[in-house]
Amino acid sequence: MARKKFVAGNWKMNTTIDEAKALAKGVVETVGNVTDVDIAVCPPFTNLLAVAEILKGSSVKLGAQDVHWEAKGAYTGKVSCSMLKSVGVTYVIVGHSEQRQYFHETDETVNKKVKAVLASELLPIICIGETLDERKSGQMDSVIERQVKGAFSGIEASDVTKCTIAYEPVWAIGTGETATPQQANEAHIFIRKIIEKLYDKEIAASLRIQYGGSMKPENAKELLAQSDVDGGLIGGASLKASDFAGIVNPV
Ligand code: PGA
Repeated sequence: MARKKFVAGNWKMNTTIDEAKALAKGVVETVGNVTDVDIAVCPPFTNLLAVAEILKGSSVKLGAQDVHWEAKGAYTGKVSCSMLKSVGVTYVIVGHSEQRQYFHETDETVNKKVKAVLASELLPIICIGETLDERKSGQMDSVIERQVKGAFSGIEASDVTKCTIAYEPVWAIGTGETATPQQANEAHIFIRKIIEKLYDKEIAASLRIQYGGSMKPENAKELLAQSDVDGGLIGGASLKASDFAGIVNPV
């Protein structure tokens, strides 16, 4: 089953409104006509609307970096799926390791968010990945299995391929250290096996799994050439349009 590649830029807590507009324009100029790869940018909440305007008419979709699972109410500081939808969001990153590390994200909250995102007809990008300690102490497989099972708990088979999984080994995020293409591919194959056990072969074969962690133009081609690496979730290198474009179209 051929899976269309999907490259998303996670701008994290970067860009003022002017910086976001300039970056979005750069992305549209460089990859706005690309249709053989799905592309998204995920600016901070404050810049979503402005970036949505700039992406209009291009093939680049808008993503958000997080969401709250409740529909509305007294949740100071949070935004809901319907709010994201109303400004033109298509994708929502859920369970990023920085959320897990600094903001008490758990497998349970990830699952609630995935359910809310799907119920709103938005598309989740579900982040999973082990820390260096977990990898070194041989817990990598059990951590990944726990995260995948947690995220997909109670998710209907018909909704699974609306999701993208981003495998992001925590030790590779923002560190300049990248998983080797073989390490990434092995992890992706393992993740696909878990999905196959939870659902079936066809669903597992259709689900897109991105790699994330210091992906840049120089290493993108080899990573993306792996059998089970279906794209990338890009942090640092997504903040420069030419680098982001170099990952979408690696030379
Ligand atoms: P990085 O971040 O590309 O800066 O390592 C990836 C991510 O956290 O999504």
